[in-house]
Amino acid sequence: MQNLSTLDRLLAAAQRALQTVSGQSIASRPYPPLAVTDAPPVALSESERRHAAALIRVDHVGEVCAQALYEAQALGARQERVRAALERASREEVDHLAWTRKRLEDLGDRTSLLNAVWYAGAFAIGLLASRLGDRLSLGFVVETERQVEQHLLGHLERLPAQDHASRAIVAQMREDERRHGLAATELGSVQLPAPARWAMRLAARVMTTTAYYV
Ligand SMILES: [Fe+2]
Ligand SMILES: [Fe+2]
Repeated sequence: MQNLSTLDRLLAAAQRALQTVSGQSIASRPYPPLAVTDAPPVALSESERRHAAALIRVDHVGEVCAQALYEAQALGARQERVRAALERASREEVDHLAWTRKRLEDLGDRTSLLNAVWYAGAFAIGLLASRLGDRLSLGFVVETERQVEQHLLGHLERLPAQDHASRAIVAQMREDERRHGLAATELGSVQLPAPARWAMRLAARVMTTTAYYV
């Protein structure tokens, strides 16, 4: 029975990986730009459009990685309550994935060409984190969400001021990431050692720099 449920989980993980990478994910919450009713629609210049799309592509890759990390960490979680919490956060991340993808389409641009690579890399890192035990794995979630939140704040500063739709999405994502970090802290995370936090920062830098262009 145990083997069957492990197999079920692996099959479900494979299905979600395919969904994520092929862009089939569907949001369960409304698209944040629909709530922006007080700002007049503004046409972006070509350079603004390209810049906004590149930033949103980076955010979309971040969400592809979030799916892989949460999926792998949930698979490797020891305690059922930790697994359930990781799966809950992962469902909200699906909204982020679908929203950023739709925004890229609306901006007339494409997602990263390397999404399968990002997913595989992040999945391996997530499995590694889960091997360290639930408390360190939760510490990894806290640090990831903290770095993502800072990164999204940077994007709010860099996005064109009149791109209200992109800004609404990024602002909602930032609020969600803050909550995911808090939830992981409340579940009993321990802080990662500094070298691990630096390594994560470096990996994120490589990903964000590449995904801006590719
Ligand atoms: Fe997210
Ligand atoms: Fe998150």
